[in-house]
Amino acid sequence: MHYPYQITSYEQYQAEYKRSIDDPAEFWSSVAENFQWRKKWHTTLNWNFTDPKIEWFKGGKLNITENCLDRHLEKSGDMPALIWEPNDPEEHHRIITYRKLHEKVCQFSHVLKNNGVKKGDRVCIYMGMIPELAIAILACARVGAIHSVIFGGFSAQSIADRLYDAQAEFIVTCDGAYRGAKDIPLKSVIDDSLIGNRTVKKVIVATRTRTAVSMIKGRDVWWEDEIKKVETLGLHDFPAEEMDAEDPLFILYTSGSTGKPKGVVHTCGGYMVYTNYTFINVFQYQTGDIHFCTADIGWITGHSYIVYGPLSAGATSLMFEGVPTFPDAGRFWDIVDKFKVNILYTAPTAIRSLMGFGLGPLQGKNLSSLKVLGTVGEPINEEAWHWYDEHVGKHRCPIVDTWWQTETGDCLISNLAGITPAVPSWATLPMPGLQMVLVDENGKELVQEGEETISGNLCIKGPWPGILRTTYGDHERCRTNYFATYPGMYFTGDGALKDKNGFYRITGRVDDVLNVSGHRIGTAELENAINMHAGVVESAVVGYPHDVKGQGIYAYVIYQGSHGQDTHGTADLVRKDIIQTITRIIGAIAKPDKIQFVSGLPKTRSGKIMRRILRKIAEGDLDSVGDTSALLDPAVVDEIKNGKL
Ligand code: WTA
Repeated sequence: MHYPYQITSYEQYQAEYKRSIDDPAEFWSSVAENFQWRKKWHTTLNWNFTDPKIEWFKGGKLNITENCLDRHLEKSGDMPALIWEPNDPEEHHRIITYRKLHEKVCQFSHVLKNNGVKKGDRVCIYMGMIPELAIAILACARVGAIHSVIFGGFSAQSIADRLYDAQAEFIVTCDGAYRGAKDIPLKSVIDDSLIGNRTVKKVIVATRTRTAVSMIKGRDVWWEDEIKKVETLGLHDFPAEEMDAEDPLFILYTSGSTGKPKGVVHTCGGYMVYTNYTFINVFQYQTGDIHFCTADIGWITGHSYIVYGPLSAGATSLMFEGVPTFPDAGRFWDIVDKFKVNILYTAPTAIRSLMGFGLGPLQGKNLSSLKVLGTVGEPINEEAWHWYDEHVGKHRCPIVDTWWQTETGDCLISNLAGITPAVPSWATLPMPGLQMVLVDENGKELVQEGEETISGNLCIKGPWPGILRTTYGDHERCRTNYFATYPGMYFTGDGALKDKNGFYRITGRVDDVLNVSGHRIGTAELENAINMHAGVVESAVVGYPHDVKGQGIYAYVIYQGSHGQDTHGTADLVRKDIIQTITRIIGAIAKPDKIQFVSGLPKTRSGKIMRRILRKIAEGDLDSVGDTSALLDPAVVDEIKNGKL
């Protein structure tokens, strides 16, 4: 079946693109009409990028879960909504039909309500990749609470900061989570995050690992006990809260170039319409396809392409608890074979790491069900692209290279599988409704002419339904971060090339944000964490090319031991201490790959660290460090070069 708004040819893409730019409100209104609204909107679009103020489908009333669940019940109630594959292949998988998922979400909505959760309340979700995570998200949306999912790799301190920023009153977590050979004690991390917390009233704990946990009377309750109460009362349905299209749906924290992570806010109506639109068009979803997105739901990719995109389309979404290399590097291929996966969406990092294991793990695995492959999160190098195409797709499956961000909600630049051209390493064309522009440092728009390929900072001229609306509790921060660098435009923070065909190739971040294994980490955040270590005087962090992770983290640290010791002879120990500090402050995902001890940092006379020089050295490009005469102490550069790791 084709959706009324599914693009089925290149010509149609071009026509739709033109229509969407000529009259965005009319275009998105015609898409939005295909959803279940309690009441139609009165204003399709109201916006300015100065405040910024962005409203889509204002006055429209809906609940996103009625679109993700209820509306599929009649026709596809018995179709699998979620297939869950556990970490341990010996454990049995679970299949949850739309009817069952609806019932589970309704029951957990009652649980939330019984525990005091109301519309607009912030609920933090810190769980492993089990179906209960998707159920918790949907139940929040059903009762109108704002979910804020935190990836399981973040530390107690990171959670505490986010709980405070969101003024969250509720937490849903698990006793622990399995990830590969590891067993992560999530509840215990939550307990640490709650020391000194004044807002959280209730913690609901689902059982997964049976790890010993401390349950505090009056505050902590077991998921299973709470569900039992609801079941005993025979409660199987829960009326979805009526939400305005512009009511917040969720907060997701993400790193920027300054300070602490920001709470990106997405709203109900626009996010739903745009997520669904991109899911159907980019992957060219066909009824009955099994969609396997390997991301963790703790990141935006999981929100949009495990939960809301596929479920709003009535698709079957495969949720995987483990990691690509456990128990061996054939895990993805076993899953594709076992469930006859049709669409596989993963990260370049995963592909590169699997390439390292050779072709053995692919042998004997039947991948013939695959129709579409996708990548997300970081630029994909041509070698990885070709490996994916040849050994996984067997040259039969179009690869979509989807470029987007937490702030954009869903995919903005990508080829449409099998419909528009694919070019290795190029994200290619913008989605309908997206007016991308490249600008120079002064904000001057660069125009591509003739055969040339131009290069600039990637900006967007107008709003699309999935754009962030604000950063939680601090609208000014949203303005200065995204809308002030180049007035009148949304600035992505990425650099890009544009060629004669109008295709885009993303070259990477141009701000101080690193992209390590597809995870965003701010250098300022990392430096703050390193500087918390007692012996550290100052630090500077840059990224460098890494074969598997895309970018590695390189930290330059000025260290002064506590009893006047230096790092002589004990450097490795000190490195471990610093890594321990970072793990405590941010989480294990932010561990530097290299820590070089230095006696000074290259600074301008006004005290600004010259990161360009540090980046060149970290990249191993020692000869093109450039002119250092403007530095306060040029000699330090040679010392750093000599000590390069
Ligand atoms: C990068 C992830 C190149 C980019 C969905 C962006 C990409 C950041 C691609 C957002 C891609 C994402 N090609 N780079 N296909 N997709 N990026 O917020 O630098 O975790 O700004 O969202 O990832 O990361 P985020």
